[in-house]
Amino acid sequence: MSEQQTKTKPADGGKMWSGRFREPLDAVFEQWQRSFPFDVRLLPQEVAASKAHARTIAAAGVLTDAELERMIEGLDQVGDIAPEFAPVEPGFVNPRLLAAELGTTPRSIRRWLGRQPEFSEIHVKHTRIALAKDDPLLLRMKNHFAIQANLNLDGEDACEEFPTTTEADLAASMARAEDIHHFVELQLTRMIGPLALKLHTGRSRNEQIATDMRLFVREAIDATAKGLRRWALALIELAEQAGDAAMPSYTHMQRAEPVLVAHWLLAYVAMIERDIARLADARRRMNYCPLGSGAVAGATLALDRSIAARELGFDSPTANSLDATSDRDFLLEFTQALATLGVHISRFAEEITLYSTAEFGYLDLPEAFSTGSSAMPQKKNPDFTELLRGKSARLAGAATTLAVLMKGLPLAYNKDLQEGQEPVFDTADTVRGILGILPAFTRSLKFNLERMRTAATTGYLNAMAAATYLSNQGVPFRKAHEIVGNTVRLGLESGRELDAIPLAELQGLSSAYGEDFRAAIALEATLDCHDVIGGTARAWVRTALAEARERLSSGA
Ligand code: ARG
Repeated sequence: MSEQQTKTKPADGGKMWSGRFREPLDAVFEQWQRSFPFDVRLLPQEVAASKAHARTIAAAGVLTDAELERMIEGLDQVGDIAPEFAPVEPGFVNPRLLAAELGTTPRSIRRWLGRQPEFSEIHVKHTRIALAKDDPLLLRMKNHFAIQANLNLDGEDACEEFPTTTEADLAASMARAEDIHHFVELQLTRMIGPLALKLHTGRSRNEQIATDMRLFVREAIDATAKGLRRWALALIELAEQAGDAAMPSYTHMQRAEPVLVAHWLLAYVAMIERDIARLADARRRMNYCPLGSGAVAGATLALDRSIAARELGFDSPTANSLDATSDRDFLLEFTQALATLGVHISRFAEEITLYSTAEFGYLDLPEAFSTGSSAMPQKKNPDFTELLRGKSARLAGAATTLAVLMKGLPLAYNKDLQEGQEPVFDTADTVRGILGILPAFTRSLKFNLERMRTAATTGYLNAMAAATYLSNQGVPFRKAHEIVGNTVRLGLESGRELDAIPLAELQGLSSAYGEDFRAAIALEATLDCHDVIGGTARAWVRTALAEARERLSSGA
């Protein structure tokens, strides 16, 4: 490069916006501001949206039929490289991906590392490089190789150098790509040459990222709803197996009244159905296509926006370009809905954890989902349910991040919005992980029904049924409550349950006690006296269970 050129041409050529710039970006800042390391997972969405946009601009006369065909073919090929992006082990960089990203080989990375004074054995694991993501060495290495890659590759000349795509092309694109939009353009350029540069006609990255994220969230919603249905069906299966088995219900964590085990399980099914409904509702609200909104004011070509909307399965184009390019309500709603789901999962996890203790003894933890203690040989720890409780914290954190991120933003697009992606990805991954295990875990739970029944029939859980009996005999409820209170005290003092106190003694407390009292406070009667919709009477629970199965099996 001559001196003259250095002055007039940005040294950082090849960015999507470099035309106006004379000075190169600070190398550390350049690396730091890139979203490509995490938005690379939007490749399928970016390719789909780009194909839809290509059809739109072709319809507007920007592309000939032949050009459109070539562009679609090229984009499909760019989409085919998706499997190249192996998942990164949490907390560490993936050496192969790192080498590809830096436009180099693992061997050169090793050689470079070997020359760094901080490099030590902790960076090598089984002959592979194992660098923690927050290792300062990593940033320095990335800068070193990124600068090298930028020196070698510049602008459109690269297309001629790489007429077909290879691992080296991929590596070079990854090293240079600022974000997934840039990456697809770079790769497409390598595939089909300068024609690729027409794809950006009449569009902006602001509408692209808004579209990609909508597509991502829509898929995540569908996958989550499916997983939730599976979990609900597992609970329903357990409830069916439990039959008429009873357990105590609790208020204030004190034994309250007996309920059917099935009734307890169906409480979680009710929560899950609300979660599914919340997701479906959010999906309906977000299913509009931002493409054609331009950078902020709308596309500068008269595009038929319905083409892309239809192609991508959206209900219609978005209504306002300022809103569409900066609206992230759908991310907020998605993370909030899943934070709420996290709360439900965490409550379930808490109950299972508690009920598996020796103190409760209501269930045996499945060994397949528990671990032992390295110190105490007798222990079986509820790791899965504890982790579930913990995971709900990060789901709540993501929803909070989104709310705080958006609250001060003036219209329209601001780069802050880039920070909204990772919490959404993390939320989707966290919930996918949980729902991949929870149905099987739930199905493997084994209740100690005998112990649950004993707990439900000791401790005066039938006191409320007793008061109801007296009130049916014509005693005002307030008075009946007091009489039963006195009866319970008598039982406590003499170590007897209500059904063990002889009638004569009962009648000493109230003449309203009759022969039929004992039957009225038996477990089945205690259950069945809750003879209302939503109550734990056996007949109602049977109906509720059948209806829940019907709703969830049909996917309605
Ligand atoms: N990576 C960017 C994001 O996630 C894409 C949009 C960039 N737009 C821009 N005007 N710089 O928000």
